[in-house]
Amino acid sequence: MRILILGGDGYLGWPTAMSLAAKGHDVCAVDNYLRREMALETNSEALIPSPNLDDRAGIFEAVTGKKIRVVIGDCADYTLMSRVFGEFKPNAVIHYAEQPSAPYSMMGFTEARKTLNNNLNATFNVIWAVMKFAPDCHIIKLGTMGEYGTPNIDIEEGWIEIERNGRSDKFLYPRQAGSLYHTTKVLDTDLLWFYVRTHGVRVTDLMQGPVYGLSTPQADMDERLLPNFHYDDIFGTVVNRFLTQAVAGVPLTVYGKGGQTRGYLNLNDTLQCVELAMTNPAQAGQLRILNQFTELFSVNEIAGRVKAVGDRMGLNVRIESIQNPRKEKEEHYYNAKHSGLLELGLKPNYMTDDVVAGMLERIIKYRGMIDTKKIMPRVRWS
Ligand SMILES: NC(=O)c1ccc[n+]([C@@H]2O[C@H](COP(=O)([O-])OP(=O)(O)OC[C@H]3O[C@@H](n4cnc5c(N)ncnc54)[C@H](O)[C@@H]3O)[C@@H](O)[C@H]2O)c1
Repeated sequence: MRILILGGDGYLGWPTAMSLAAKGHDVCAVDNYLRREMALETNSEALIPSPNLDDRAGIFEAVTGKKIRVVIGDCADYTLMSRVFGEFKPNAVIHYAEQPSAPYSMMGFTEARKTLNNNLNATFNVIWAVMKFAPDCHIIKLGTMGEYGTPNIDIEEGWIEIERNGRSDKFLYPRQAGSLYHTTKVLDTDLLWFYVRTHGVRVTDLMQGPVYGLSTPQADMDERLLPNFHYDDIFGTVVNRFLTQAVAGVPLTVYGKGGQTRGYLNLNDTLQCVELAMTNPAQAGQLRILNQFTELFSVNEIAGRVKAVGDRMGLNVRIESIQNPRKEKEEHYYNAKHSGLLELGLKPNYMTDDVVAGMLERIIKYRGMIDTKKIMPRVRWS
């Protein structure tokens, strides 16, 4: 298949590009280095410096013999998107190209506006470029479980049947996000749903939970192929942050009571999920929503696991509850359905002690590069 990966330099985009190219697909990765720029701007650089996208693709080709095409450009620029879609004519587009940090989006007006403009314009352009240049192309869009918030009822897989005064209908499950970033994902879903209803676009919207890990079959072939791994308060996801804190010998920073529960998944499972969505496409005129995670954990449970494994490895891990910089429920009901991807064939890689130990060992190799100034929260919701 011809697969366009938008955000192909990112934490998830780069491993996806390698994984699909390794399987023989014709892959084109587009990125404008927005995340690298924002990381520099906020002193939040990744743990392991990674070569730029062209160089990574060159290293990947030298190691595997497989090619990844690279386009450096802005998905929020419709001229570029028209050219890329017009020339490449993808069968599927995997859209990761967004500003993905909740804290960044909450820093102030400039960062909020940049997040809103970037994310909505990129998604809008993808939809129009598909309609104009590749109408059969399946849009695989990365959403987030954070779109749903933490309602006091079960979270369904995208849709909910509502009965009212003896009549019933199916609607998008109510969304109530906890940051401006997450709100842009809600707006993306609404945009996609509008064009699915009116223009028959085919879309899979993957409501993904926080991802952890840095090892994939291709990344393990050469250290220079590792994904960009963030452990800071702005771009680091919680598991990656805790693992790095354990290795650095600083306390794991639990925000508030630590009862915040979410669905998590291993980086290798993100690769499986997008491939399963791609090989089992949505129908024309269908917005298929799949909840993409494999296990539910509270923040306290994650900290406890990292501590248990880290202590056995002699790391002497400490856990510290700090004032929560976010506005969120710290204890709440959480039961989210996630059967769709399992039915498509997902074989989860669970967060076993061995998996935690493997990630810690990997990070220990880069212990000297951890900058502990990047760990404590620098952004507050109010
Ligand atoms: N990592 C997670 O735990 C997680 C969880 C849920 C959802 N997601 C979603 O998955 C997607 C990828 O996340 P990630 O963790 O890989 O983030 P990332 O920041 O590492 O990757 C996103 C990539 O997109 C690029 N990009 C952003 N805007 C662009 C634009 N206008 N034009 C071209 N390139 C652009 C960035 O430079 C970056 O390389 C995001 O949409 C994010 O919201 C991620």
